[in-house]
Amino acid sequence: MSETLTETPRPALAVTREPFGQMPDGTPIWRYRMTNRCRMTVELVTYGARIHAVHVPDMHGNSEDITLGFDSLDGYLGENDAYFGATIGRYANRIGGARVDVNGTAHELSANEGANTLHGGQHGFDSCVWASESFDAGSTVGVEMTYFSPDGEMGFPGNLAVTVRYTLDDANRLRLHYSAVCDRATPVNLTNHVYFNLAGAGMPSVLEHVATLNASRFTPVNEAMIPTGALESVAYTPLDFMRPRRIGDAIDDDHEQLIRAGGYDHNWVLDTEGDIARLAARVIEPESGRGLEMFTTEPGVQFYTGNNLPGGFVAKNDKTYPPRSGFCLEAQRFPDAPNQADFPNTILSPGEKYSQTTIYRFLPDLPPANTFLDGP
Ligand code: BGC
Repeated sequence: MSETLTETPRPALAVTREPFGQMPDGTPIWRYRMTNRCRMTVELVTYGARIHAVHVPDMHGNSEDITLGFDSLDGYLGENDAYFGATIGRYANRIGGARVDVNGTAHELSANEGANTLHGGQHGFDSCVWASESFDAGSTVGVEMTYFSPDGEMGFPGNLAVTVRYTLDDANRLRLHYSAVCDRATPVNLTNHVYFNLAGAGMPSVLEHVATLNASRFTPVNEAMIPTGALESVAYTPLDFMRPRRIGDAIDDDHEQLIRAGGYDHNWVLDTEGDIARLAARVIEPESGRGLEMFTTEPGVQFYTGNNLPGGFVAKNDKTYPPRSGFCLEAQRFPDAPNQADFPNTILSPGEKYSQTTIYRFLPDLPPANTFLDGP
């Protein structure tokens, strides 16, 4: 009996790393694994500063990987990558006409979705190799990833030095802290594009998940998914998630915005107004009892129900991901803000520091596995 107990590895707050393949030019890619005492595991890879896997026990203690992705680097480099787990920049979501005016100068950006720029252009931060270093801060462990985006990359003006710091603690909080500085005024909007299925990645749908968004308005889009510039109330529309609601409840309603996007794929204007102490979003999967809460300093969140996932390709653990089999909660500044006079500013100037903190907290909040083994 005591042998069994001592043979079971004690989950600990720790971070390790191992090779995760090489880029075509030979650059090594690393996979980091952070663990905590509640049996959570978070894996990160340095290609695109990605969240590669998140293992969380359900209410019975059964652990599953709840994020979508690929088993190997080749998958992420291939044509089926849908920004799985990736850090998005220099500008998350869309910029209409692939063009921005900064202090009176026009800049042509990389157009990668028709005439528009999506997620930073053809080679956004999701497809860059990030430098990395792990750390142990006592009550948290983490990995800091950095990327230097040169002047003119994807058409954006100025050099931009970006840092993303991931930390995990024993309260099942995965914290993402972003910072950036530039040497010339430039638009900056960073986010993470991780897709979750709280029943386990590879389960066919998220429509039974129950979502709450602390947002009474959203930014409607035109046919090209570019914001019209309005802030509209969600009241009496299928976009109202002020109270918990099954994602599938009204996703196929005859509503112009949903038809346009093939489901939910909009920027909600958070009522939290940048206050990270207030809950921004919560999603619960009733069968497993797993849940996810999001807290953020950002003014908006792109709630995306994976409408464009194509299925039919082999992903992690030999699973495939059909449409609506994952959801994203992308904390962000508003899409197309550089071209929208009434949206909050997203231009970073030299001497300023871009800063964002977003926390994903995972439920159920089970007691640490070793509660009864620990001494006083
Ligand atoms: C966008 C979707 C897009 C997806 C790409 C989301 O952030 O809002 O429209 O299809 O990213 O995976």
